[in-house]
Amino acid sequence: MSKRWTRRHLLQQSALASAAVMGRRAFAMQHMQGMSMPAAHHGVRTMDATKLTPFVDPLPLPVLQHSTERRSSKMHSAVDAPYYSVHVREIACKLHRDLPPSRMWGYGATSAPVLFEARSHEGVLIDWINELPPKHFLPLDKPMHGLENAPETRIVAHMHGARVPSVSDGYPDDWFGPGKNKLDYYPNGQDATGLWVHDHAMGVSRMNVFAGLMGWYIIRDEQEDALRLPSGKYELPLLIYDRSFDPQGQLYYPNPPDEGAWAQEFLGDAMLVNGKVQPYHEVEPRKYRLRIANTANSRFFSLAFSNEQSFHVIGSDQGLLAAPVEMKRIVLAPAERTDIVVDFGNAAGSHIILQSDTLELMQFRVSKQSVTDESRLPTQLRSTPRMPESAAGNTRLITLNEFDGDNGMPMVMLLNRKHWIEPVTERVKLGSTEIWSFVNLTQDTHPIHLHLVRFQILDRRPFSVDDYLTDNTLRYTGNGRPPAEHELGWKDVVQCPAETVTRIIVPFQGYAGRYLYHCHILEHEANDMMRPYDVLP
Ligand code: C2O
Ligand code: CU
Ligand code: CU
Repeated sequence: MSKRWTRRHLLQQSALASAAVMGRRAFAMQHMQGMSMPAAHHGVRTMDATKLTPFVDPLPLPVLQHSTERRSSKMHSAVDAPYYSVHVREIACKLHRDLPPSRMWGYGATSAPVLFEARSHEGVLIDWINELPPKHFLPLDKPMHGLENAPETRIVAHMHGARVPSVSDGYPDDWFGPGKNKLDYYPNGQDATGLWVHDHAMGVSRMNVFAGLMGWYIIRDEQEDALRLPSGKYELPLLIYDRSFDPQGQLYYPNPPDEGAWAQEFLGDAMLVNGKVQPYHEVEPRKYRLRIANTANSRFFSLAFSNEQSFHVIGSDQGLLAAPVEMKRIVLAPAERTDIVVDFGNAAGSHIILQSDTLELMQFRVSKQSVTDESRLPTQLRSTPRMPESAAGNTRLITLNEFDGDNGMPMVMLLNRKHWIEPVTERVKLGSTEIWSFVNLTQDTHPIHLHLVRFQILDRRPFSVDDYLTDNTLRYTGNGRPPAEHELGWKDVVQCPAETVTRIIVPFQGYAGRYLYHCHILEHEANDMMRPYDVLP
């Protein structure tokens, strides 16, 4: 019996029933000050990545994948669809001019993200082929119950935000080891948007993502094409995330096996964009479309430009907003995406840094040349009617919990006080609409994500945690706040702030089957803020 299981078991036996819900440390420090906290852990030394010279490497552009043939798959009822194969391999890449090549994993051959482009309602087949070595290069924790004999280098790809049949969703238990493959079908029956693919294998997804298993998947449609937004080289998809390095320049993930083997979150001191530490990009003085995905394990980014110029948010997780929203700063939780148009037209000749408070992510070098910009920023983008509360036939209350571990074991975080392995409690009917109320009893913001669906945020309302813990009654301490303007579109991740009830309204459309919802701070998801849910036919 592994240590981990013992702890979980104990918790279920005793502590769960009575444990006070612990909030440990407000995330405020991370969010608001954006401090760079080195991941050094009990004597393990990390390189001080803040000493690396910034802006010496050009921004890698995502690598567009090409399908070489069309195939059909009976099992997926896929007919004559473009077929892609992805060889998942261990690679060595220079992540900064002054670093040696770092060992990592990739869906592609370099640290630049792969990019799939698809059209709405035109499905694609992707064959994920595990060509990894048998040993993981990152320190794994003791295997969970049931995974003692699972290969260390198991993987499964999840297309985050995709409306897909459950067999192709990348369910955590659908992992496969080296030498195996999995053919998935993505029907793309959804609006144009930027999705991202990442690993989701049970017990190891946070290390697999950290190792590099992430990429872009962009769905386009005619309605969006007609808007004539900046495109081609004026559309830049950016994956942003943080890492740390050991003194030899290799990726460092804190997971010392004798410490209970679980980092409650990961915050690195090196900021990467598209596979390079603090790259630069040469741009023209004109409009650009930046599609940004926060693919960090735990870090929230509070994004702004160093010259304090504003930008227009045109889309969120699940596609275009009704109209552009002008902003100067936007906070992205792990897995959230934003789609913005920024005009460098008044910044010719200057260097502008994309930053998150004091952290610098990348630099834009705006040329002096005069250019003609034929792209547009339309005042209307896509009609996105707000869903009325009355559309929902059912409301579910879901608590977000943190429990102090016994005997110095790390904290456990749960949804509805339930572990992943417990039987399904959320069963929804295909085609129905529900309101899910996330009752956050902790002192952290948790970005909650539902697979399969898109949803709208209704409101966020503070309540008394003490009262709730005393008699299970929700007593609000203030009024509900409507979502911010840039959150009014369709979402698949919602930031649930501390001591607040966050309500979303979810049409369960697409497919019946087994899916999941979880906190997208990958360290929370792993232990154990992740639950299955069923969509019933
Ligand atoms: Cu990015 Cu389970 O999700
Ligand atoms: Cu997902
Ligand atoms: Cu969380």
